[in-house]
Amino acid sequence: MNRIFIITAGPTREHLDPVRFLSNPSTGRMGFAVARAAAARGFETVLVAGPVALKTPARVRRVDVVSAREMLAAVEEEIRRAESVGADVTLISTAAIADWRPAECAARKLKKGEMSDTLKLVRNPDLLKSVACAHKVGFAAETGELAAEARRKCREKGLDFIVANDVTAAGAGFGVATNRVTIFRADGSTLALPLMSKLAVARRIIRECEAGW
Ligand code: CTP
Repeated sequence: MNRIFIITAGPTREHLDPVRFLSNPSTGRMGFAVARAAAARGFETVLVAGPVALKTPARVRRVDVVSAREMLAAVEEEIRRAESVGADVTLISTAAIADWRPAECAARKLKKGEMSDTLKLVRNPDLLKSVACAHKVGFAAETGELAAEARRKCREKGLDFIVANDVTAAGAGFGVATNRVTIFRADGSTLALPLMSKLAVARRIIRECEAGW
């Protein structure tokens, strides 16, 4: 069976005009490490990346996007392409996808006199909930109720498993080379991993996918 990994990484940007946007501090490192680990195991790997300053890993095909809606459209297109050749798709969404976007995006730079002191937002689609494919894996960045929130997201998004981390813990979260994660599986079992490099976490995640096939 031909297995294809589709991996989302990085932040999304939600523009309110050509020079202003809402975003978050995701660097894309975790997702790029997951793509590198999948490709190193010999799997065809597509990386759908928001705006990040990272080199594309070897043997990985990269599709660059800016907004959450572009990321969703690109992932849907890659799933269609993979399934049209009979491949079994595993989607791993590491991206810090913006849940909201400005209700309007101006075609030219807004003058400060044209801006009001409130910003109207609308909800973005939930990428993992919107797409269907053979296997889905999510990430959960939490600052509090880690286990309960991870289990809820795993169930609501229909995931095989979710990789959860407390982004306020030392050595975990945005912009650092290490991560300390716990895997919550759909069957209720958990696997707590020690503090490891993001690449070691990535290799462990690919192994977890392979064990579930
Ligand atoms: N995610 C997604 N679509 C979104 C937002 C997030 O598919 N619009 C994915 C992320 O890539 C990640 C997982 O959902 O794999 C969990 O993201 P997180 O931001 O922790 O959760 P939310 O769904 O935004 O839930 P909440 O705001 O309740 O924490």
